[in-house]
Amino acid sequence: MADCDVAVIGAGVIGESVAYELAARGAAVTLLDARGAGLGATQAAAGMLAPFIEGFGRPLLPLAARSLEMYASFIDRILRDTGIDVGYARSGSLHVANEEESIAELKVVAAGAKAAGVACDLLDARQALEREPSLAPDVMGGLLFPSHGFVGAIDLSAALCTGAVKHGARLIVPARVRRISSRGAEMDIELESGGRLVSQQVVIAAGCWSGLIDIDGMPPVPIRPIRGQLLQLAWSGDPLKRIVWGPRCYIVPSGPGTALVGATVEDAGYDERTTVAGVRDLLDAACDLVPQVWQASLVAARVGLRPATSDEMPVIGRSRAVPGVVFATGHFRNGVLLAPFTAKAVADVVLDNQEDPLLAAVSPQRFGEY
Ligand code: GLY
Repeated sequence: MADCDVAVIGAGVIGESVAYELAARGAAVTLLDARGAGLGATQAAAGMLAPFIEGFGRPLLPLAARSLEMYASFIDRILRDTGIDVGYARSGSLHVANEEESIAELKVVAAGAKAAGVACDLLDARQALEREPSLAPDVMGGLLFPSHGFVGAIDLSAALCTGAVKHGARLIVPARVRRISSRGAEMDIELESGGRLVSQQVVIAAGCWSGLIDIDGMPPVPIRPIRGQLLQLAWSGDPLKRIVWGPRCYIVPSGPGTALVGATVEDAGYDERTTVAGVRDLLDAACDLVPQVWQASLVAARVGLRPATSDEMPVIGRSRAVPGVVFATGHFRNGVLLAPFTAKAVADVVLDNQEDPLLAAVSPQRFGEY
């Protein structure tokens, strides 16, 4: 007899969203994490919701755009279920250019977005400074997407976990999963502590640690850590009105008197330290983009290990090798943005064996016998 219907391994924003969705649909869910909820890549996420900056020209864009469409109702549900305000705002974004070459690139993005029916405004230098007067005067132009926005990743993570538990999910932390194997129609989950759990199905949502779980019947999931450092600033000047994305950093005006500056992209293995080099590079880039950063206070430097695959696309879908296993991992730079889409798509697979056609681009089988 199984202990639960679905065990979700990993309580970052993806695992939490999946657990929340499954529990809300009536499944008996156990959510496990080796550390605690929201303590992996999620803790250093800026919470940017900007698919036409981060996904343009990539196969990620259809998933990212769909997930953005789902965001308002996702947040409404979470607020209704938990009463937690997660700092969600559709502020828009301004992608800033400071050389001819990047203006030309922005024109290509603007044409592509317009062809897809997505509203955007290509701005010259004067217009960009009118919209964001705090920008450095060397700005040459910008591309404004009114539909973009942000959400407080740490608050979202806390709310998702609360919501999942309110719907009956059981959170077990710390619980590091060592091995998963099939036992007849059920899945046997062995913990490093020596404990075990039996579940009907297992969702692998352990981010960059997904490949370290030994799953009988398949090779390790090919995901590696890519470090991201993020700065939290206390902002005393005129607040930015929207996300500002520059050539070497982005700034998210994530709340009153607060801004987040991100992010480094570093191949540093499982090293979760912040570094002087990372902090200095981000501060230099942010001061060049918005000189008021010189007046801000540095509140914190955060770090997270993003889960990256070789094509920088997530791995979402049911295993063919071990059908009790479903993947929801490898979201690299877009876990927060892709959370609503992933939660729904995974719940559809787990509970109804329904596969959203968009999952074809993120199939586990593109990497081999999974
Ligand atoms: N999505 C923002 C980042 O990865 O830095």
